Amino acid sequence: MLVSAKDMLNKARDGKYAVGQFNINNLEWTKAILLTAQELNSPVILGVSEGAGKYMCGYKTVVGMTKGMIDSLGITVPVALHLDHGSFDGAKACINAGFSSIMFDGSHLPFEENFAKTTALVNTCDVLGLSLEAEVGAIGGEEDGVVGAGECADPEECKKIADLGVTMLAAGIGNIHGKYPDNWPGLSFTTLEAIKAKVGDMPLVLHGGTGIPDDQIKKAISLGVAKINVNTECQLVFQEATRKYIEEGKDQIGKGFDPRKLLAPGFEAIKAKVKEKMELFGSAGKA
Ligand code: 13P
Repeated sequence: MLVSAKDMLNKARDGKYAVGQFNINNLEWTKAILLTAQELNSPVILGVSEGAGKYMCGYKTVVGMTKGMIDSLGITVPVALHLDHGSFDGAKACINAGFSSIMFDGSHLPFEENFAKTTALVNTCDVLGLSLEAEVGAIGGEEDGVVGAGECADPEECKKIADLGVTMLAAGIGNIHGKYPDNWPGLSFTTLEAIKAKVGDMPLVLHGGTGIPDDQIKKAISLGVAKINVNTECQLVFQEATRKYIEEGKDQIGKGFDPRKLLAPGFEAIKAKVKEKMELFGSAGKA
């Protein structure tokens, strides 16, 4: 069964840990993340960008695959299936397809429009029992062709959106999707503290989890971050492990060409990365 992310995030906020959102791309990704969550007894959020949704043949396929896998693998930890950086239309499509959690990202829109569209979705998600993430202040870097500058959100705007009754709020604090450049100044904890002071109990979401040093992750959690998104790091370890397998010529030995063998090292690498992050975020044992 898929669940809303509301309970898991409120518990994480109260318990001073964070639940990881790991983005999925295919069956191997989904299976690796679900099995690791179960092994660690951790709640988990599966993130699906609109691009990944299209790649996996549409949101209905994603819902069918995930629900089927939860059943077949005997997954009992809480799992939320979450639209990542959704447009308004994407949010509607995922609600109709059976997602249990939605992110509407109106951060690139004029604030009034972000406010109005988030308001409409707060009411819908509330009636349907789905969790809703909103965003204020674009997250830097590139995701699915959308490029942001890594800005810091305005705490007043954060309060206005939080007060609408969203479940969780993503706010830019100098974080960037993808690898951080060498001259990255780090997260702006001053901004995070100012936002936290305005939004009170609202669980905060840290995007761009890839490459943020562990001490900054821990500090962010101590200041109210209850959900951390990781995508690129899983892609990188999958790529490295797959490259190694091929460079060592293992695909040319015996039945090494079998996709179930060819994709196994990458699959194991994602499992190890997700385990590392769940332990760092403190969600292991918290299901
Ligand atoms: P990274 O790819 O930098 O880990 O960011 C993931 C993310 O924030 C998804 O929304």
